[in-house]
Amino acid sequence: MEQYAIKGGNPLVGEVEISGAKNAALAILAAAIMTDETVLIENVPDVRDTNVMMQAMESIGVVVNRIDRHTVKINASQVHDLVIEGDYIKKIRASYYLLGSLLGKYSKAEVVLPGGCNIGLRPIDQHIKGFRALGADVGIGYGRISAEAVKLKGNHIYMDVVTVGATMNVMMAAVMAEGTTVIENAAKEPHVVDLANFLNSMGANIKGAGTDVIRIKGVSRLHGTEYGIIPDQIEAGTFMFAAAVTKGDVTVKNVIPKHLESISAKLLEIGCEIEESDDAVRVVAAKPLGHTHVKTLPYPGFPTDMQPQITVALGLSAGTSIVTESIFENRFKYVDELTCMGANIKVESNTAIIDGVSKYTGAHITAPDLRAGAALVIAALAADGISTVDDIKYIQRGYEDFHLKLQHLGAQIDLVTTDREMQKFRLKVG
Ligand code: EPZ
Repeated sequence: MEQYAIKGGNPLVGEVEISGAKNAALAILAAAIMTDETVLIENVPDVRDTNVMMQAMESIGVVVNRIDRHTVKINASQVHDLVIEGDYIKKIRASYYLLGSLLGKYSKAEVVLPGGCNIGLRPIDQHIKGFRALGADVGIGYGRISAEAVKLKGNHIYMDVVTVGATMNVMMAAVMAEGTTVIENAAKEPHVVDLANFLNSMGANIKGAGTDVIRIKGVSRLHGTEYGIIPDQIEAGTFMFAAAVTKGDVTVKNVIPKHLESISAKLLEIGCEIEESDDAVRVVAAKPLGHTHVKTLPYPGFPTDMQPQITVALGLSAGTSIVTESIFENRFKYVDELTCMGANIKVESNTAIIDGVSKYTGAHITAPDLRAGAALVIAALAADGISTVDDIKYIQRGYEDFHLKLQHLGAQIDLVTTDREMQKFRLKVG
């Protein structure tokens, strides 16, 4: 079993290149099947979730040609099946984007019900509501969700909650529907804008992405395009907090600083220095960290996907901090692991009350999901002594070369698979 072995205590110093955004890539890959012409996509992160998505696309006849590690050419002119099935696809939540894209192109689709990180109830009622509003019959049964329409027709759709997934899925389904679709209370995340830009580059007519009202005028067809995916806001934020927690000095490169504003603001509040340039942000943690309060919110608020990372930092900050999770109700599972490392955190419902401690101590811990897994690695990098992190398959879902990028910043972290490798690591780090 793969594990990370980590010896804490080294401040992270240097520069790190941020990969393409996983959550944009997943939707954009699915949307690439909406034309029969060839689509070239650059800056695709090489992570488990994007690879599973491409495997699912290949299973229905899409030709996925990897030009290099981060560039793929996609041609969907030979799609022979509109059913996405298989145990592997249940592992990713984003499989549901194939429902929107296949429905939008072929007026019919069937996908096994989505899995993904276990961070709380993850209903898909808003996706279903949107597809139905466009005229599709939607059914759930035998572990699958199916949607079918004679002809999709534009409609006015009000989302009851701000949801990234349903906003992007309904956008794809509506792109070639007859007439105009208006999505109100739409999500404004950077990946929503990226998907809209991608679809527009294929000939779609989408306006308002990035605001809470998106207008989509149906077009009769989409054409091929060449497109580069935006940098990953959450990967960048994770390295920014890694700098803060290890008292380091890290420049995250190839980022869009605007997407990182809520993260930079909290780092400033707890005493870090932030320097921004056109496509990079430097975080210097020269002073002891101070406390703050934070509530996760849809963009441009503080992202739920950064909640475990900020909690790890506040666990080492002077004073009492409060973190409120308002998006997913089960996203504090990692706190037990952090407690094993010496943190003093009490969770009540969707709130964590954190009394900062002066240090974490190395422990044997398990990643409960993707972002919490990354946050625990950061905690281990700051801890006294050696830690091992199990179930790193979750981290590999969304972070490309995580341990290699950390090593490059001076972290003592190895990926080990055997006891022998673990012993070697112990000898190496002394
Ligand atoms: C996306 O999940 C991301 N996943 C998540 O990233 C991220 O945490 C989340 O957005 C919020 O930013 C992907 O993009 C693949 P939502 P998604 O629909 O689309 C409720 C990561 O670590 N809701 O925006 O599933 C839902 O329960 C992950 O990369 C409904 O009620 O999230 C939640 O409370 C994990 N009905 C809120 O909306 C619906 O039909 C936001 O969910 C859909 C959602």
